[in-house]
Amino acid sequence: MKTDTPRVIRLSEYAPYPFTVESLDLAFDLDPKATRVESTLKLSRTGDSGAALELDGEDLRLVSVAIDGEALAEDRYEATDSGLRIAKVPDAFTLTITTEIAPEDNTKLEGLYLSNGMYCTQCEAEGFRRITYFPDRPDVMTTYRVTIRADKGVNPVLLSNGNRVDAGDLDGGRHYVTWEDPFKKPSYLFALVAGDLARVQDSFRTRSGRDVELNIWVEHGNESRCPFAMESLKKAMKWDEDVYGLEYDLNLFNIVAVSHFNMGAMENKSLNVFNAKAVLADPETATDADYAYIEAVVAHEYFHNWTGNRITCRDWFQLSLKEGLTVFRDQQFSSDMRSAPVERIDQVRSLRARQFPEDAGPLAHPVRPDSYIEINNFYTATVYMKGAEVIRMMHRLLGEDGFRKGMDLYIARHDGTATTCDNFAKAMEDASGRDLSQFKRWYSQAGTPQVEAEGRFEDGVYALTIRQHTDPTPGQDTKHPQHIPFEVGLISRDGAALPLRLEGEPADGEAPLTRVLDVTEAEQTFRFTGLEAEPVPSLNRGFTAPVRLTAPWSDADRALLMRYDPDSFAKWEAGQQYATQLLLNAVNERAAGRNVAPDATRFVDALGTTLSDETLDPAYRAQMMALPTEDYLAEQMPVMDVDGVHAAREALKRDIAVTHADLFTKLRDQHRAAAGPFAPTAEGAGHRALANGALAYLTTDPANAHLAAEQYDAADNMTDRMAALRVLVELDVPERDRCLTDFHDRYQHNELALDKWFSVQAVAARPDTLARVKDLMSHEKFTMRNPNRVRALVGAFAMGNPTVFHAKDGSGYAFLADRVLELNSLNPQIGARLLQPLGRWKRMDEDRRKLMTAELDRILAAPDLARDIYEIASKSRQA
Ligand code: TRP
Ligand code: ZN
Repeated sequence: MKTDTPRVIRLSEYAPYPFTVESLDLAFDLDPKATRVESTLKLSRTGDSGAALELDGEDLRLVSVAIDGEALAEDRYEATDSGLRIAKVPDAFTLTITTEIAPEDNTKLEGLYLSNGMYCTQCEAEGFRRITYFPDRPDVMTTYRVTIRADKGVNPVLLSNGNRVDAGDLDGGRHYVTWEDPFKKPSYLFALVAGDLARVQDSFRTRSGRDVELNIWVEHGNESRCPFAMESLKKAMKWDEDVYGLEYDLNLFNIVAVSHFNMGAMENKSLNVFNAKAVLADPETATDADYAYIEAVVAHEYFHNWTGNRITCRDWFQLSLKEGLTVFRDQQFSSDMRSAPVERIDQVRSLRARQFPEDAGPLAHPVRPDSYIEINNFYTATVYMKGAEVIRMMHRLLGEDGFRKGMDLYIARHDGTATTCDNFAKAMEDASGRDLSQFKRWYSQAGTPQVEAEGRFEDGVYALTIRQHTDPTPGQDTKHPQHIPFEVGLISRDGAALPLRLEGEPADGEAPLTRVLDVTEAEQTFRFTGLEAEPVPSLNRGFTAPVRLTAPWSDADRALLMRYDPDSFAKWEAGQQYATQLLLNAVNERAAGRNVAPDATRFVDALGTTLSDETLDPAYRAQMMALPTEDYLAEQMPVMDVDGVHAAREALKRDIAVTHADLFTKLRDQHRAAAGPFAPTAEGAGHRALANGALAYLTTDPANAHLAAEQYDAADNMTDRMAALRVLVELDVPERDRCLTDFHDRYQHNELALDKWFSVQAVAARPDTLARVKDLMSHEKFTMRNPNRVRALVGAFAMGNPTVFHAKDGSGYAFLADRVLELNSLNPQIGARLLQPLGRWKRMDEDRRKLMTAELDRILAAPDLARDIYEIASKSRQA
C-alpha cells in the first residue's frame, strides 16, 4: 500500500508563476539510452522578491546547472524526484541546465520516447518535465529555439515546432537542424520528432495568399495511406477561414504518424503528432468509421492552432476552454462535410455512452473540475463532450451571428495569452449583451440534469410544465437549477406541425413551428394557445440540452413522433425511447419470472414504415435501425441486469428480423448495389451502413450465416468485411473460424487491421470469449507496450462486452485488474483508463459488487501505485 497519499491540486490555490521566461533555447543530442538535453532559459522575476525558483522535473538525471554561465555548487540547489529548487536567484538571469534521459526506457509514452525506432515526444499535459527541468504549466509561455543533433544515417529527419532556420553536418556521421517558433507557447505544445521517415507533401494557399507547405511524415511504406488525411487537412484549413475567419499563421504544417501513442492525436504547434490510427487509411483496411474519425481528428488538431495554441489555458482546470470548444468546432466541421442529422445522432450516442455514465458514477466532475490528483485522468468525456455541449448551447442561445461575434471578441482579447473559461463566457456576454451568469453553472455543476415534462390540454391551451433536478455527485450535495435551452414543437394527431404561440403573444402574428424555450427554474410552465385538440409534444429537439428527459408519451405518441416529427433528431429519438421502454419492460418481466415479452407490434410496425421510407437518407435510416446498446439500456436500470438486457435485446432483434425479413433482404440488396465500388464518401458509407444493418438482422437466424460468409469473401472494403466478421464471431458455424483465420493471414502485417482482429474476438458475447482473450494475450503480436493493442484486446473486452466482462464468477473483473496492475509500472495513463469499468460496482447486484470491490481493493493494495491509478481506484472504491 502506498503510504504517502498523493497531493490534491486545487483550482482555488491557483497563483501566477513568479518569473517570466523571456526565451528558451534547447539543444538535444539524441541517443536511445542517454540523450543529453541542454536548456537555456532567460528569466526575469515578475512576482515576490523573495520567491525561490522552482522547476518541475521527473525521471531526469541532472548533469549540471549554471546561472549566468557559472556552475552552481551542490548546496545552492535542491533536486528531488519532482523538481529542482534554487532558493536564491537574481531578478534577471540566464539559467543553463543539462540533463540526461533514456528515451528507450520510456514506456509511459510521456516525454521523449521511441516508437518503432522513431524519436517522438508527448508533452501534454505534464510530459515536458520528463525532458528537462522547467516551469511545466500552461501559463508560462515563451519562444523556443531548438537544435537537434543525431546520427544522420539513423535519423535523417529532425523536426520541431516553427521554422527550420539552420542545418548542417557534424563529425562522426552526425548532423543537426535548428528550429525556431516565433509564437510564444506553453511547454505542453513543444514537440520533437526524429527518425527515418517518409514524407508526403502538399500545399495550401491561405485566403490572404500565403502558401503553406503541408507534410505528413510516416514510416516507410505507409505513404500511400496518407491522401485522405491530407485532403481532410486542406478541407479543415479552408473551413476555418470560411466559418471563423481564422487563417493558418506559419508557412509550414507537419503531421507525424506514430505507432505507439496514448491518445488520438496532439496539437503541438505546427508539428501535430498523431496516433497512426488517426492518419493512415486505405480502402482495404480502413472502415467508413475510420475515415470519418481521421477527418474529424485531423480537423480537431488543426483547429487547436487557434483554440488551444494561440489562446491556451491558464491552468489545467480550464482544459475544456480548448477541448470543449475545439470538439464543438470539429463537430460543426463534420456536420458540414457529412449529414448534419446523422452526425448529431452519433454525437448524442457517444455522449450517452460515455459522458452520462461518467456523470452518474464515482468519477463525476464538472466541465471545469475544481481538484485533481493526476491531470491525465481529466481528459474525460465530461471535459471534451459535455464541454462541447456547453459551447453548443451558447451557440444556440446567441445564434450563429452572435456566437461568431463572441468568438471574434474572444480572439481579439486573448490572442497570445493563457486564459480561463470565465473569460470565454465574458467575451460571449459582451459581444451579445446576453447574461450568462446562470448559464455558467454548466461549467461548475457536475451531473446530468433530469428533466421531466408534463402536458395538460384545456380550452385550446396546451400547458407544458418542465421540471429540472440534478442528483448529488461526489463532493457536490446541493445542485441549483441550470439555464437549459430546450427546443420544442407540437404535432397534431394527424401528424401536422402546429404553430407555437405562447400565451400573451398577439394572435394574428406569425407563430413559429419550433422554438427554443429558456428553462431556468426548477419548475416552469409554458402555455401554448390557439390549439384545437391536444397535441403531442416534441421535446429537446436536436438534443439542444444534454439532459435526461422523461415525458409522459404513450406508445401511440411515440409511434406518431417516429413517423411525423419533422425534427430528424427527435424522430430518431422517439424510436430509441420507444425501444428502450419496451426492452426495459421485457427485462423486468423476465426478472419477475413472467416470460412473456410485452407486445412490440406497434413499434416493429412503425420501424418498418420508417425503414421503408425512401425519402429518408440511407445513413439516417441506418441510425433508426440500430437499437439502443446494451450498455445504454443497463444504464437506465437502478440495478443493472446485463444478462436480462442482452436476452431482451436479442429477442427484440429476432422479432424485428422475422417481421421484416423481406424488407431487410430488399434493403440489403438495394444498398449493396447502390454503394458500388468502394469510395470513402459519406454517401457510400450510408449505403453500406444500411445494408450491413440489414445483414445483422438477417443473421439473427443462424441459417443465414452464409450471407455473412459470402460478404466476407466478396468484400472490396473493410467496412463490409468487418460487418460480416462481426456477425460471424457470435455464431457457432464453421465459417467463423475460417474467416477469422483468413483475416489474420491477410492482415497480420498491418498493425491497424490486426487490432480489429483482436477486438472482434474480444467483443463476442460467447461463454468462451475470456478464454480466447487470454489465449490472444500470448499471440506473438500481442504486447502490453502498445496502447492501441491494449485497447483493441483488453479495452474492447472490458468496455465492449458487458455480459462476458460481468460474468457471475468475477473472472472478467480479475482479468481486468491483472492488466491494470501490469500497466501500473508500464503505462499508468492507459492503466487508469482501463480500470474505469470497475467503478460501476454500485449499480450491480450484491454478488457482483463484492467481486468488483475486491478487485479494486487488490489494486489499491499494490505497492508503488502510480498517481493515475491510485486516483481512479480510490475514487471508484468510495461508497
Ligand atoms: N490535446 C489532445 C487533443 O485533444 C489530447 C491529448 C492530451 C493527448 N494528452 C494527450 C494526446 C496525451 C496524446 C497523449 O487533441
Ligand atoms: Zn483537443
